[in-house]
Amino acid sequence: MENYLTVALAKGRLAETAIGLFEKMGYDCSQMREKSRKLIFTDEAKKAKFILVKASDVPVYVEYGAADIGIVGRDTILQEGRNLYETLDLGFGKCKMAVCGPADMKDKFSGMANLRVASKYTNIAREYFHIGKGQTVEIIPLSGSVELAPLVGLSEVIVDIVESGKTLKENGLEVLEVICDLSAWLVVNRVSMKMKRETIMEIVTNMKELIKGECL
Ligand code: PRP
Repeated sequence: MENYLTVALAKGRLAETAIGLFEKMGYDCSQMREKSRKLIFTDEAKKAKFILVKASDVPVYVEYGAADIGIVGRDTILQEGRNLYETLDLGFGKCKMAVCGPADMKDKFSGMANLRVASKYTNIAREYFHIGKGQTVEIIPLSGSVELAPLVGLSEVIVDIVESGKTLKENGLEVLEVICDLSAWLVVNRVSMKMKRETIMEIVTNMKELIKGECL
């Protein structure tokens, strides 16, 4: 794989725009667009390999150098806490990480004893409450449909991604406090940044141009 640049892309919401970004830079991503069970796609002309993996695995592949670069949401970067370069904010997939819950929790949840917080983003939630607020809370890990937790009494609040706010609204919940802004980022393996610097910096420059031109 040494002569190839390996790119890890997060499956899901960011995939379409991320693939489009590489296509605009002249990469052949046609194999990736075909609905197949293939996991690795090669552009021989550009000497690039693409892997489409679960979002939370992108930082793992990049930290270990199995992928040189990756595109993944900042939510995943913060949650995974991996040792890699967060090189470029790509500006798409914008959303927020927030504490959400029923409206009557707004004035209550801060400082509340025994607050239960359900989240997929357990590390972000823990850091926000324990370190940021100095509040001891119980973090309840979930892997999806987190909005359900306050509805069935599993937790008082949740820490989750809010994009359009539709999921919250349809479940009678609201944003109680915004934790941070999120978007897709280009992440780079620390060794690859040295060994494949020229190729990677060319990609960074091209991506910056595309973002500036807002042709994403
Ligand atoms: C995410 C997030 C919210 C929803 C927010 O879930 O966890 O549930 O999107 O989007 P909205 O503000 O536009 O409604 P996702 O769809 O990724 O699936 P999940 O429930 O499995 O986490």
